[in-house]
Amino acid sequence: MKIVLEHLTKKFPGISKKDKSEVIAVNDFNFEIPDGKLIGLLGPSGCGKSTALNLICGLEKPTNGRIIFGDLDVTGLPPENRGVGLVFQNYALYPHLTVYDNIKFPLENLRGKDKLTKEQMDAKIQEVAKLVQIENLLERRPSEMSGGQQQRVAIARALVKRPQVLLLDEPLSNLDARLRLQTREELKRIQQETGITTVFVTHDQEEAMSISDTIVVMKDGVLQQMGEPQSIYDEPINLFVASFLGTPQINVFDGYIKDGGVYIGEAKVLDAKGQPDGDVSVAIRPEGFVLDSNGPLECEFVTREVMGRDTSFVAKHDKFRGEKLRAIIPSEEIYDGKDGKVRFSLKPSKVHIFDGKTDERIKL
Ligand SMILES: Nc1ncnc2c1ncn2[C@@H]1O[C@H](COP(=O)(O)OP(=O)(O)OP(=O)(O)O)[C@@H](O)[C@H]1O
Ligand SMILES: [Mg+2]
Repeated sequence: MKIVLEHLTKKFPGISKKDKSEVIAVNDFNFEIPDGKLIGLLGPSGCGKSTALNLICGLEKPTNGRIIFGDLDVTGLPPENRGVGLVFQNYALYPHLTVYDNIKFPLENLRGKDKLTKEQMDAKIQEVAKLVQIENLLERRPSEMSGGQQQRVAIARALVKRPQVLLLDEPLSNLDARLRLQTREELKRIQQETGITTVFVTHDQEEAMSISDTIVVMKDGVLQQMGEPQSIYDEPINLFVASFLGTPQINVFDGYIKDGGVYIGEAKVLDAKGQPDGDVSVAIRPEGFVLDSNGPLECEFVTREVMGRDTSFVAKHDKFRGEKLRAIIPSEEIYDGKDGKVRFSLKPSKVHIFDGKTDERIKL
């Protein structure tokens, strides 16, 4: 099911009548979610991710704009008539019901022509339990299962009515690191097997990158960039997106363009032919540094952290916007570090330049 958002806006008024401050939680969203894709809605806490999801499912009414599922305008429809399945961070299973009955619950509410027989319900429950691999847990109660198992039950419950759209709000946040990884792979498999159009909300950029076909990056209610994970990482539209994606974080320096070159301090680090002079931010991915005793960028060496395959060089530079920068270097590379300095040359494709005033990317 294709989803189209048109000028979708949600404003929340101030707390009291006197309070004139209003929050624009979702500000003029215009985009299309293609049928059968998994979209990651990514941004820092409070940027409006949950509000956007609640608008799509109908738990919130928009201040402005429309939501279209396929050819149908669903803006005025209540959640139960939109054919959406929902999963939240706290799985909200009924503690007194078995897994089987928890999954059955949404089916029991079906009325009229949609009403199912016991056998039909059983078939659907077995099918979805198999899909999320909990067939052998159906007689348990939620308290008798791990967090990951409970989350799978919640996903099964959301899927049992065969929704056309699956909406997930930080569904993995309560799981420990290992289970989180496992469950996210599982989720991706389930999404691909069912082909259900899915919106996945997270503030974890790594999670969003690994699971999504397309990422939507938000900040303060405003869509910043939408695209495939790799292309957003490689071509961030502004400094916010560049800084939000990637671990360790991108390294940002105060720099400037002069006479067709990009400089950090005295060091010319890139060519910028045809670009006007002016202040810029020079943002370098950790993997964009190359150890090079003749390289242009000289830094003060702080320490080296061995990570196995790679080594993380921690260094200082007076134009670095932060305390210490981090460069990821293959472990076999040799560094003598006698004078307490380390010199780098840079991989141009891993360096992004942003306008000093607008923070927009300058394409070289
Ligand atoms: N019911 C409400 N009334 C007033 N303001 C609200 C309401 N719900 C959300 N907000 C405000 O809207 C903004 C977006 O909130 P939202 O919950 O969508 O953020 P989020 O991106 O999901 O954050 P988190 O990652 O912390 O869950 C915030 O400033 C929040 O305070
Ligand atoms: Mg939220």
